[in-house]
Amino acid sequence: MNSLEGKVAIITGGTQGLGGAYTSLFVKFGARVVVADMRDEEGPANVDEINRQAGDRRAVYCHLDVTKAAEWQHVVEVAETEFGKLTTLVNNAGVPGRDGIEGTTEASWAGTINVDLKGTWLGMKYCIPAMRRAGGGSIVNTSSTSGLVGTGRGAPYCSAKGGIHALTKTAAAQYGGEKIRVNSIHPGLVDTPRNKNISDEWRQEMLRGTPLGRMAKPEEIANAVAFLASDAASFMTGSALIVDGGMTAI
Ligand SMILES: NC(=O)c1ccc[n+]([C@@H]2O[C@H](COP(=O)([O-])OP(=O)(O)OC[C@H]3O[C@@H](n4cnc5c(N)ncnc54)[C@H](O)[C@@H]3O)[C@@H](O)[C@H]2O)c1
Repeated sequence: MNSLEGKVAIITGGTQGLGGAYTSLFVKFGARVVVADMRDEEGPANVDEINRQAGDRRAVYCHLDVTKAAEWQHVVEVAETEFGKLTTLVNNAGVPGRDGIEGTTEASWAGTINVDLKGTWLGMKYCIPAMRRAGGGSIVNTSSTSGLVGTGRGAPYCSAKGGIHALTKTAAAQYGGEKIRVNSIHPGLVDTPRNKNISDEWRQEMLRGTPLGRMAKPEEIANAVAFLASDAASFMTGSALIVDGGMTAI
């Protein structure tokens, strides 16, 4: 159902955590993937292992800092040169920003907003022309439950993720006529490297507020992202797909 045969995707932050799970599943479902990240030590080895398991050159690694326009232009060129086209973008790269309103500094505000929100906008800006050349495409932007409801902490993060939610809808409105679909994914708490260091108190508070009573495995979010990227979601654009174990239901 979620076949990605014939798709060529850029997955930002695609070497670990959620992005790593997306890369593995996309290749398993038949896509070719440009893994775009700043982890230049680990990235090429990850991709070699994926290609070894696939028995084919299904993925390439490309350095990308999502805040840099010139680097976006380069990664799009890599997709078209290596795999002939670009059909799919998963804007996944992100950094936390966990302080509240008064605790946030101008520097920490800019750091989170630049990577999470500006990076998502730049990705669409530079990938959409290539999708137009391919005759259409699908973009999945990574928001969060924090882009839908207040958490009482994480002022820059909630602002970035709320911005991504709205940016997704305006992009969907602008590009539907060109067969480019744009949706956002809203995970709850997921077991990834970034959550290894959150306090037990915070973890327990989050889990108490999650009807399924546990963190998601990255693969559980990857299935939803693969669905949005696939032709099975051909009439979905501007949607906010919540995969949160029920966190925002209560
Ligand atoms: N883990 C969760 O509980 C959770 C919940 C909701 C949303 N999210 C969102 O999902 C996405 C992935 O989260 P994760 O938990 O896998 O994070 P992670 O910290 O484990 O991985 C983030 C990846 O993004 C890359 N990255 C960071 N800054 C970058 C930049 N400037 N340019 C390119 N790559 C950059 C990192 O190198 C890393 O590979 C993020 O956008 C995050 O906000 C995560």
